[in-house]
Amino acid sequence: MTTTQEIIDLEQQYVLQTYKRPEFVLEGGEGVWLYDAEGRQYLDACSGIAVNALGYRSEAIVEAIRQGAEGLLHVSNLYHTAPHALLARDLCQSSFADRVFFCNSGAEANEGALKFARKWARSKGHTDKTGLVAFTGSFHGRTMGALSVTATEKYRAPFEPLIGNVAFAEFNNLDSARRVIDQNTCAVIVEPVQGEGGVTPADPEFMTGLRALCDETETLLIADEVQCGLGRAGALWAYEGYGITPDMMTLAKPLAGGLPMGAILLTQIVADALEPGDHGSTFAAGPLVCSVAHAVFKHVNTPEFLNDVKTKSDYLAAKLQKEVAASPLIEQVRGKGLMWGLVSVPPAADIVTEARNHGLIILVAGPNVVRLLPPLTMTQAEIDMLVERLLKTLEAMG
Ligand SMILES: Cc1ncc(COP(=O)(O)O)c(C=O)c1O
Repeated sequence: MTTTQEIIDLEQQYVLQTYKRPEFVLEGGEGVWLYDAEGRQYLDACSGIAVNALGYRSEAIVEAIRQGAEGLLHVSNLYHTAPHALLARDLCQSSFADRVFFCNSGAEANEGALKFARKWARSKGHTDKTGLVAFTGSFHGRTMGALSVTATEKYRAPFEPLIGNVAFAEFNNLDSARRVIDQNTCAVIVEPVQGEGGVTPADPEFMTGLRALCDETETLLIADEVQCGLGRAGALWAYEGYGITPDMMTLAKPLAGGLPMGAILLTQIVADALEPGDHGSTFAAGPLVCSVAHAVFKHVNTPEFLNDVKTKSDYLAAKLQKEVAASPLIEQVRGKGLMWGLVSVPPAADIVTEARNHGLIILVAGPNVVRLLPPLTMTQAEIDMLVERLLKTLEAMG
């Protein structure tokens, strides 16, 4: 038997210290609840950072894994398998996209989308059209390409030089975007709801304006829906709320119910620029991960499920605006769907730490924003508990 302290000691001795983990060890979960090795129970409003959309031990996921485990786990992308084709069909048929490329994470999806944009511009004979535009507050991942379009200086600076020809405009400021998007831009990448950068939804005029600017300059618009996609923003895809369609959309986090998977959805116009050998991945799109993703997708993509998310989103929004925004420790409440940020007076990390003492797991989105990402399956009664525990946390700190 290994104790909590022994596990923490081992982690600190052997694991590269790129995360500061709290002093407990998670051991199990059921629905929206997590349990630690000491038997403490936590209401989870983090969802493994927006991954566990269906909560823990979801029947749909457990069953898909059980069945998938009996079949082929991996055969490589050199061969056809049914789950791959069926999942691709359903993602395309439910979105603007004509094609999908599967990968293993959000960063990889963005990395691929940036590559596709450059190849698309080159295939049209525009050798100078290599520019990429991203926004303040953005987070697109930690690999070199994805990091190059991620705004946070702290993440970028130690690894410079990053890839060239990237310009940043101010998020939600169309004039600023207009100053950097031109004929030499091949892609603009934007999160319809910024996650890590502080849970900030894009303004409707900003998204429609970006679409128009991209059309004027023949630039591809990439919607990074790694965090806000697949129901999280209150609709299947966050772009739907803006009445526009992107040219590419990147997905990951909740896609395969906790197994690693990313995807790039794209239009045929972009797809026409890519040919065999241009991009690839050993692990991506294996039969097991695709079967599980297909089960998750079929579960989420029903009017009943999405309507329920919408109803609960409105319920949570109203409670946060009324009850939590009244706390003197909270300056602003903002978000969309089941993705909310509480702009805090004290450091957000202190609120997250105190919340654990009240049996609540939440996370930060920058130094002064507390982030709530409950499983999409959280019931209204559980939302009441979430808000109650949040208020107790703020009271204890106030
Ligand atoms: C919007 C967005 N894009 C990309 C990523 C990177 O995803 P991953 O951590 O799977 O590489 C994240 C992760 O938080 C994200 O929130």
